[in-house]
Amino acid sequence: MNIKAVDLFAGAGGFTEGAQRAGVDVIFAANHWPVSVDAHEANHPGVEHECQDLRQFDFESLPDFDMLLASPACQGHSTAGQGSDSARAAKKHEADRNTALAVIECADKKRPETILVENVPRFAKWELFDWWCDGLRVLGYHVTSTLVDAADLGVPQNRKRIVVAASLKAPVEFEAPKSERKPFSSVLLDIDEGWTSIKAKSANIRKRIDTGREKHGDRFLTQYVTKHPGRSLDRPIGTITTAPSHWHLVDGQQMRSITTAELLAAQDFRPDYIIPDNVALATRLIGNAIPPALAKWAIEQAA
Ligand SMILES: C[S@@+](CC[C@H](N)C(=O)[O-])C[C@H]1O[C@@H](n2cnc3c(N)ncnc32)[C@H](O)[C@@H]1O
Repeated sequence: MNIKAVDLFAGAGGFTEGAQRAGVDVIFAANHWPVSVDAHEANHPGVEHECQDLRQFDFESLPDFDMLLASPACQGHSTAGQGSDSARAAKKHEADRNTALAVIECADKKRPETILVENVPRFAKWELFDWWCDGLRVLGYHVTSTLVDAADLGVPQNRKRIVVAASLKAPVEFEAPKSERKPFSSVLLDIDEGWTSIKAKSANIRKRIDTGREKHGDRFLTQYVTKHPGRSLDRPIGTITTAPSHWHLVDGQQMRSITTAELLAAQDFRPDYIIPDNVALATRLIGNAIPPALAKWAIEQAA
C-alpha cells in the first residue's frame, strides 16, 4: 500500500500496531507521557518519537504523510472520568476533551488524505463534537463515523468505541465487522501464583462471589464492585480499564487478579509486546489502548 501514517496520542501503540498489520508505515508517534513514549519506542523502534503536549505541537515541522491516526484523551468523555465534580476536575476534563482540537490543527497544517480518530462513544456527546466535525469539513474533508465493538472483530473483550473517518477523497463507508466472538477463556493463562482464599475475604465479597457462582458455576470473572453479577468465561471479558486489579478470576474457593499478560491478550496485543513490569503503569497503558485488530479494521475501511 505504501501509505505513510502519523500516530498522535500514541499511548502504548495500539494504532501503530494495527497500522503495521494493515501494511501502513507509521513514521512518527507522539504523546506527552514519557512512560508511554518509552513503551511505544521499545515496540516500534523504527518510528520517530516525540514526547510533548500535542496541544502545543508545531505540526508544520512534520514530514508529509497520508494518514493521521489519533486517539485524543478520552478521560473527559468517558463516564469513568466523571467521578468528581470539583472545579479542578472539571478543568482537567475540559483540557482532556480539548486534545481533540490538535487533530484539526494537524489537519490544517498537513492535510493528510485520511484521518481516523478513535474514542469512547461519548465523544459524540461532547458539546463541541458537531463543531469539531464541521471544522474538518471546512478543511475539505468528508466526515463519517461508526460505533464498533472490538468483540465483533474477534477480540476477546467487549469494548465499544467510536471511529470518526475524515477523507479528502470520498466519504468512508464503514461495513459492520462480522468476526466470531472469542471467549475470554481462550486467553486465560494457567498460573500458580497470585491466588488468594475467598474464605478469608469480607462478607460482602463472599456474597458477591456466591451470587456469581449461582449464575456461572465455579470458574468465572468478577470485579471489586458491589453487586457485580459475575461474568461467564465463555464470553469476551467486559471493558479493560486503566484501574489495576479491576477484573478477577474466581476458581472454586480461590481468586486472583487478571495478569498483565492476560490484559495484553484481551486487548489483542501480541504476547511479546514490551510493557513495564510495574502493574499500575502497565494497566494504564493497556487500558487506554485501541485494540490493534480494531485499528487495523478501521484503517482498512478507510484506505
Ligand atoms: C486513549 S489514549 C491513546 C491510546 C493509544 N492510541 C493506544 O493505542 O495506546 C490517550 C493518550 O493521550 C495522551 N495524552 C493526553 N493528553 C495529552 C496531550 N495534551 N498531549 C499529548 N498526549 C496526551 C495520554 O497520555 C494517553 O496515552
